[in-house]
Amino acid sequence: MPEELLPPITWRPDFATGVAIVDDQHRVLIRLLGEAGSKLSDRSPIEDFTHIVEGLLSYAGYHFQTEAKLMGDHAYEALRPEEANDHLLQHEAFADRVGAIHSGLKAGQRIAKTALMEFLISWLSNHILNTDKALGAFIADRQGAHGPANG
Ligand SMILES: [Fe+2]
Repeated sequence: MPEELLPPITWRPDFATGVAIVDDQHRVLIRLLGEAGSKLSDRSPIEDFTHIVEGLLSYAGYHFQTEAKLMGDHAYEALRPEEANDHLLQHEAFADRVGAIHSGLKAGQRIAKTALMEFLISWLSNHILNTDKALGAFIADRQGAHGPANG
């Protein structure tokens, strides 16, 4: 079956951003994608797709709020305006795309499991590796320079 060819996403050491709360939430997202991959098949009732997409949208929204708060706490937008803006736009694009998939499902439009999983897995791994890690490195730098130990 073609859907079996897609490897599941699992936590890898190079996903670590160095920010514990972000890494913990990424592990939850990775677990949710793993569950989606093992529970869904193209023959699953459309309600199963809707339910899984709803859970992901909800947790991703919560996670994006956590990152936005961290950006505020560390003056990311003031000090790295382009990076911060691009980061927030990536979150918005993800929410829009998954929101559109969700609306489609509610209206009876199915999505192939492979198309859904490929989008979710590639978006999350690229976003963590290229975007969240940049935020993590920025926060680590700021904590090194302005952390509690240094006043
Ligand atoms: Fe992010």
